[in-house]
Amino acid sequence: MSAFHVLMLPGDGIGPEVLAVAEHALTTVCATGNFAIETTTHPFGGAAYDAHGVPVTEATLAAASAADAVLLGAVGGPQYDTVDPAVRPERGLLALRKHLGVYANLRPARCFPALAHASPLKAELTRNVDILFVRELIGGIYFGEPRGIDGPPGERRGYNTMVYSEPEIARIVRRAFGLAQKRRKRLTSVDKANVLEVHRLWRRVVDGIAPEFPDVAVDHLYVDNCAMQLATRPGQFDVVVTGNLFGDILSDEAAALTGSLGVLPSAALGEGPGLFEPVHGSAPDIAGQGIANPIAAVLSAAMLLRWSAKRNDLALRLERAVDDCLGAGLRTADLFTGRTGERQVGTQALGDAIIDALSTGPSRVAKKSPTVKIPRVGDATGGIQ
Ligand code: IPM
Ligand code: MG
Repeated sequence: MSAFHVLMLPGDGIGPEVLAVAEHALTTVCATGNFAIETTTHPFGGAAYDAHGVPVTEATLAAASAADAVLLGAVGGPQYDTVDPAVRPERGLLALRKHLGVYANLRPARCFPALAHASPLKAELTRNVDILFVRELIGGIYFGEPRGIDGPPGERRGYNTMVYSEPEIARIVRRAFGLAQKRRKRLTSVDKANVLEVHRLWRRVVDGIAPEFPDVAVDHLYVDNCAMQLATRPGQFDVVVTGNLFGDILSDEAAALTGSLGVLPSAALGEGPGLFEPVHGSAPDIAGQGIANPIAAVLSAAMLLRWSAKRNDLALRLERAVDDCLGAGLRTADLFTGRTGERQVGTQALGDAIIDALSTGPSRVAKKSPTVKIPRVGDATGGIQ
C-alpha cells in the first residue's frame, strides 16, 4: 500500500515554527503505529506571494488535490496589508478551501482541565465547556456575487452578497446533525432569520432535515443572542452549525472564552482531501522568537489522523501526549501564569516533550524537558497579545 501523503503548507509568521513541530509529532506517532506517511512542503500565503507573486500557485492547488490531506500553519502579516487585495495571503487560503471543496469547518472549543484558570470567565461557567462549531466554509458572504466597490470618489458603494442555496445549506446541516449524533445529541443552528431572507431559508432547511435525525434535539438561535449566551452560559452548547461569517466570529469568541485560543485546532472537510489548521493566526509579533505555542498545530495533525487517515488510535495518542505535557505543567509564554507547577518552555522544547510523551508516557515528561529562559508575557521584550 502506498504511503499516506500530506501536503505541508507552513505559510507565514509563526506558521513554519509550529508546523515543524507538528510534522515531527505526526511522523513520530505514525512510526509508532506502523502507518506509512510521507510529506511534501510548498510555500503558501505571503511566502508564496514573495516567491511567485501569488498567494497560492496552480502547482500547489494541484498538489493539494493529489494529497491525502493538507496541514497548514498560518497566513498573513503586516507587510502584506498594502498589496493588491486580489493577491493578499488570505485570498490564497480562501482559494485553497474553495478548490478542495472543504465546506465543513469543524472547530472544537473545549476547556482543557489544566488550563481552566486561563479563561476570562468564572471557572464554574467554563468547567464543562466542550463545543463543536460546524462552520460552512466555502459559501455565504465570503464568496457571494455581486461584490465590489464602485462609483465616483465621495459616492462610492461597497457591497457583498450573502447567499446560500438549499443544497449548500442541506449538506452542512446534515454533517452537523451527524456529528451531534456522535456527541451529546444537541444541535444549535445560528442565524439572523428575523432580518435576513437567506437565513429564513436556512431555518426552513434545518427544520426540514431535523426529522431524519430524531435522536438529536435541535434549536435555533439568533446570532446576537448566541454571542451573548456563549459569554454567559457556554456550557449549554454541544454542536453549533452556522454560516461562514457568523462561524468565523463565534468560533473566535468561543475559543477565547475557553482561555486556550493558542491550543485549538480545526479541520475543514469535503469529499476529497481535508485541510487542517490551527485556529490561531500567524502572530507576526512573536514570529521567529521560538516562543510560539505549537499545540494547536499538533492537535490539527491529530484531527488529520482522525478525519482523513481514519486512524483514531493515533489521533488519541497524539492528543494524550499533549494532555500529558500540559498536565506536567509545561507552558509556552502565551499560557504561562507563574503558578506553582508551571514551567515556561519554548516551541522546540515543548515539541520535544510531546515527542517524548509519545514514547515514554507522562511520568518522564516533567523531568526530561529542558527549561528555556525566555521573556514572560507582558515583559517589555515579550510582546504577546
Ligand atoms: C479563519 C480566518 C480566515 C477566515 C481569514 C484569514 C481569511 O479568520 O480561518 O477564521 O476568515 O476564514
Ligand atoms: Mg477567523
